[in-house]
Amino acid sequence: MLRITPQRCLVRPFSISRCLKQAQPEVKENSTDEQKFLPMSRAQTAYLDRVIRVDQAGELGANYIYAGQYFVLANKYPHLKPVLQHMWDQEIHHHNTFNNLQLKKRVRPSLLTPLWKIGAFAMGAGTSLISPQAAMACTEAVETVIGRHYNDQLRCLTNQYELQKPDGSHGQSEEVQSLTKTITQFRDEELEHLNTAVEHDSHQAVPYKLLTEGIMTICRAAVWTAERV
Ligand SMILES: [Fe+2]
Ligand SMILES: [Fe+2]
Repeated sequence: MLRITPQRCLVRPFSISRCLKQAQPEVKENSTDEQKFLPMSRAQTAYLDRVIRVDQAGELGANYIYAGQYFVLANKYPHLKPVLQHMWDQEIHHHNTFNNLQLKKRVRPSLLTPLWKIGAFAMGAGTSLISPQAAMACTEAVETVIGRHYNDQLRCLTNQYELQKPDGSHGQSEEVQSLTKTITQFRDEELEHLNTAVEHDSHQAVPYKLLTEGIMTICRAAVWTAERV
């Protein structure tokens, strides 16, 4: 299956649609967890599906937010170009990863996917049109919500997924360990993006408070909705 890597975006930075389309799923092999552990409860299975659905939608949104920022700011502010490109590349990787997991686990995507795409691009481009600082305030707000969201998921995966083995002992399945590792890495990268936004004057945005509080409220509502719809 054709798969375009983030590096190819670096070569052709102006191809916004190419970068957005590159998040193509790949099918991977099944794990052997089924033989090692007793089946998960319905609640555990449902929560894992919800994690994959909401994280795929969130990373899709992040991909489109950075696309909007790059579209407006990259040529006008050349010093921001590599900064935006680096964060965007990481979001493309996050988006690809959850696309793959969604296909592998056969989790249905959020029914509001078209809305997330339009809303996220509009948020990235709209705040960038106000000022580069406003774009960074948008990044700060989004990454604050996503960092907390990933921490909540990590807490649940750590505390609620000690599965029983046929011999009566307990342990974590490879599937859960792998998901935990992925979310931990992505959480750390989101927090790097947050720090980058602050270093690039997000606090100088006008109106800072209104922008960040408004965007955090929108993001929390989007997370709540994408988990369910
Ligand atoms: Fe991300
Ligand atoms: Fe991010």
